[in-house]
Amino acid sequence: MIVLALKRQKVALIGDGAVGSSYAYAMMQQGLAEEFVIVDVIKERTVGDALDLEDAQVFTAPKHVYSGDYADCKDADLAVITAGAPQKPGETRLDLVNKNLKIMQSIIKPLVDSGFKGIIVVAANPVDILTYAAQKFSGFPKNRVFGSGTSLDSSRLKVALGKKLNISSQSIDAYILGEHGDSEFAAYSAARVGGEPFLDVAKRAGLSDDDLATIEDQVRHKAYEIINRKGATFYGVATCLMRISRAILHDENAILPVGAPMDGEYGLHDVYIGTPAVINGSGIEKVIEVPLNDKEAAAMKASAETLQKTTKDGMA
Ligand code: NAD
Ligand code: LAC
Repeated sequence: MIVLALKRQKVALIGDGAVGSSYAYAMMQQGLAEEFVIVDVIKERTVGDALDLEDAQVFTAPKHVYSGDYADCKDADLAVITAGAPQKPGETRLDLVNKNLKIMQSIIKPLVDSGFKGIIVVAANPVDILTYAAQKFSGFPKNRVFGSGTSLDSSRLKVALGKKLNISSQSIDAYILGEHGDSEFAAYSAARVGGEPFLDVAKRAGLSDDDLATIEDQVRHKAYEIINRKGATFYGVATCLMRISRAILHDENAILPVGAPMDGEYGLHDVYIGTPAVINGSGIEKVIEVPLNDKEAAAMKASAETLQKTTKDGMA
């Protein structure tokens, strides 16, 4: 008799707040990962969430979802870190650096000590700096630690452009690059719609340079708009994290915007920053350098400098 031993895929979620629990729900809806362990300093919340989420499996896919500790992360394929303070109205992401670096340090040590050998994806803010710190604290290879980067921002750009052009956001190939934060920018010169340069399509649609600058600014400030109204953002990023997780768990070689380590791309080193990359079961298979015009290339450098300065101050 042939016995097929299929490996059960396991995901560890660390941080069961608004973003983490929305991510858990998105993963449940997609039937991704047979085993899903939830870790948080507020233990009761993880127990409650696991009980709540398991009731959804009857309609989605069987899943062992449970509240756990770091020891349960040992054999996980993927750990998604959403633990950390969110911005209050008026705060920037960079304002969170000191308190969230301490939280990241308190997470990575027990995670690594558990024997965990999977991929780490960070979403807590300031995400590019916390991803850099997670890689340094863990000592893991850089391709196995990356961030959500400008995943959410690129989604926001596609949504905004889709509305302006009356074309599905899913049919627009465009990226926000740089920091997931106030120094990010739209790489309009490389964007494509139906194989055509986006800038030609935009011109035909009557969009001026000022209109494009306004859209870029609205995308950059969208988180503030949402936080001012409902206190936090979570559904958007949770779905981005689910998409990244699917690319890892299904070994997809999908090109997705993430927060990736720079090794000479854009002339940058020693920083994690938002750019597309090929994502598969090994993590980042390849970082993709988007061709930029001079203005965009300067914006990428300036964004990296902002991140590096804040990292240096925060980790000093
Ligand atoms: P939240 O306050 O709802 O949840 C944070 C959770 O982290 C809480 O459950 C808390 O108990 C837990 N936590 C705190 N310290 C911990 C520790 N040491 N170990 C384990 N768990 C710990 O916040 P939220 O709205 O879910 O946001 C979480 C983070 O995600 C914030 O930093 C926020 O800025 C960030 N975020 C990032 C993006 C993105 O695109 N990358 C989007 C939205 C939010
Ligand atoms: C966002 C978070 C706050 O929604 O980083 O962009």
